Amino acid sequence: MNSNARSSKGNKEAEERKKRFIEAQQRKKRLKEKMERIKHKIAVMSGKGGVGKSTVAVNLAVALSEEGYGVGLLDLDLHGPNDVRMLGLKEKLSVDEGEIIPANYSEGLKVISMAFLLEEGAPVIWRGPMKTIAIEQFLADVRWGELDFLVVDLPPGTGDESLTLYQSVPVDGAVIVTTPQIVALDDVRRAMKFVIEMKTAPLSSSQNTRILGIVENMSYFRCPNGDIVHPFGEGGAEKLSREYEVPVLGKIPMDPKALELMDKGMPPVSFYRGTEFEKAFRDIVGNLLENLKG
Ligand SMILES: Nc1ncnc2c1ncn2[C@@H]1O[C@H](COP(=O)(O)OP(=O)(O)O)[C@@H](O)[C@H]1O
Ligand SMILES: [Mg+2]
Repeated sequence: MNSNARSSKGNKEAEERKKRFIEAQQRKKRLKEKMERIKHKIAVMSGKGGVGKSTVAVNLAVALSEEGYGVGLLDLDLHGPNDVRMLGLKEKLSVDEGEIIPANYSEGLKVISMAFLLEEGAPVIWRGPMKTIAIEQFLADVRWGELDFLVVDLPPGTGDESLTLYQSVPVDGAVIVTTPQIVALDDVRRAMKFVIEMKTAPLSSSQNTRILGIVENMSYFRCPNGDIVHPFGEGGAEKLSREYEVPVLGKIPMDPKALELMDKGMPPVSFYRGTEFEKAFRDIVGNLLENLKG
């Protein structure tokens, strides 16, 4: 390669870099503007998988929308997106004037998930930087509009997805989901420490973030004869609550019927009324709203 060819290749690369930089700056600006139109951003987190984060995120979003709030649900579990199935959504996303139009579960609940962009069962094979861009686009390029709440369902742990969210968005706070066992609690503590660290971490946008409270899922099981048993132990949420001085927002029973409904795309909070499962979510919403006020 002669020196002219080398310098033209160098110029091209520099131009590409500049273009990408400008795009990233513009995306960040759009993101900031979009997020300013959403009152509360709430992350549903846990250090552990399978504890019920998606169950909590979905039913919380539905319950808030039933209270009359404008709600967005953002499923950031890019590798295991479940929220779309749990809500029984079939439609695909559309694009209008360069903006992604979220799916509507109801008039008051808009939903965005990786699941809309994947063939059923297809895996997402991405490394960190690609995930960051995808998440920024979900925040910046979706027509969220004016909302009271954005509920974000995070994957287990405190990896790229959680970090990108807290760096991009001023997250009001986290709802921490746990089951009562001690093993789960050890991992859950890591998620709680992450939230606390985000108040002072150098690139964080979430200096005012806090742990809004703990939800204990699969807290107990009510036998057909009415007796209560605790298959996963007792007292886990209270222990964390004392340790971190944060409230317990609610305790959700283990209920096979609720699981069945979730699998069918019928969120129990609206399709399983009059049950302890539903009541647990009404309590969680009440306590969360109270906590956000104070
Ligand atoms: N309280 C509950 N009672 C019965 N099944 C539950 C309950 N909470 C969650 N499940 C089921 O457990 C599985 C894992 O829950 P999920 O919300 O997907 O967890 P995570 O998002 O933390 O991985 C799902 O099949 C869900 O329907
Ligand atoms: Mg999940």
